[in-house]
Amino acid sequence: MELHPYFLIILPGLEDLAHQELMDKCPPTNARVTKGGIEINASLDWMAEAHLKLKIPTRILLRISEFKVRDFPKLYQKILHFNWTKFLSHPDPLWEISCTKSRLNHTGRIKETIKKALTQVLIKQPLSKDWEKKNYPPQTFYVRLNDDLLTLSLDLSGDPLYKRNLQSVKGEAPLRENIAAALVYELTYHLNQEVILVDPMCGSGTFLTEALTFYTPLHLRTFAFETAPFFKGKTLKMTKTIEAQGLLTDAVGFDINEELLLKVKKETSGLPITFQNQDSTLTPIKIPGEMIMICNPPYGERLKIEGKRGTFLKEAWKKFIEVDRPLRFGWLLPKDMDDLFLHPKGYKQVSKRSFRNGGLAVTFWVWERL
Ligand SMILES: C[S@@+](CC[C@H](N)C(=O)[O-])C[C@H]1O[C@@H](n2cnc3c(N)ncnc32)[C@H](O)[C@@H]1O
Repeated sequence: MELHPYFLIILPGLEDLAHQELMDKCPPTNARVTKGGIEINASLDWMAEAHLKLKIPTRILLRISEFKVRDFPKLYQKILHFNWTKFLSHPDPLWEISCTKSRLNHTGRIKETIKKALTQVLIKQPLSKDWEKKNYPPQTFYVRLNDDLLTLSLDLSGDPLYKRNLQSVKGEAPLRENIAAALVYELTYHLNQEVILVDPMCGSGTFLTEALTFYTPLHLRTFAFETAPFFKGKTLKMTKTIEAQGLLTDAVGFDINEELLLKVKKETSGLPITFQNQDSTLTPIKIPGEMIMICNPPYGERLKIEGKRGTFLKEAWKKFIEVDRPLRFGWLLPKDMDDLFLHPKGYKQVSKRSFRNGGLAVTFWVWERL
């Protein structure tokens, strides 16, 4: 079986969770974690399967060429003599170009040179007209120059993978699906009993839907590789096998915004989620069974909150820990508030991770009841 080099793009700070997910669901021949990604060697079938199963990566690239280049004539020649017929499905692809520590560093001129060479290629070897007949979207190629070494990659995903097409209704500050997936995965890791997942401020319910579909392969949208010549004639097989389902049985979401909950409820009716309208900072959360809790409260940045934001968040946190007492508690907050949440009474810290959520430095804490 022929192996190809792929690169999974991962939000910095989530690489270890993405690697764990990869090894859990579809281990490749080999994998190397780097900052912001994972390099992999695997088959074409693996790549198709990974698109359906992996929930943490942002996108998957195929590394298609790598060469040293220090001047424009050489770049032109390299592009002119590259075997495009295997990869190109659209005559006018998009180019994402970045350069570091390289003689060629004018991204505009690099793009111009590549496009000029590609125009010549297409005169000599015209593309099949499928892209016109079937309305294919343009592909995206990534050109990265580092130390005069050019790496050419093809984006296989198209829309970023956190666009699942699972639900369209979103609250005001929804979490990206891949971040929600990574955090619920971390929260539930190594659980050894059945639990119900609760989000006391669920908004669009992203944590809940991601938790309940984490082990379900999804193909509710198209992926860029489906139109590429190297995939022609192949169909994307939906794997029915749902690996180790985890120990989540149900999920319950609370929110103060009743209108939003009604819309979200309609859209997620196929999943075992109960939604309830309440002020979770005041009303105790009663669940028939052991619960774990995950919460991404309003920070007071995009969503306004009453009073001083520190006071509201500290009070809410204390109430969840002292009154509701979940078995595990995952809490996502801006990093500049870390000091407020240092000593949860009756809990030990399981993990603490930092990353950027929409440009804001945040911390995700996980505590476990003692
Ligand atoms: C940052 S959003 C959560 C977003 C959610 N994780 C998602 O992906 O859509 C915070 C949510 O907390 C809700 N909220 C604010 N105060 C609340 C309270 N006292 N009780 C329950 N929900 C509250 C807001 O209505 C909002 O939907």
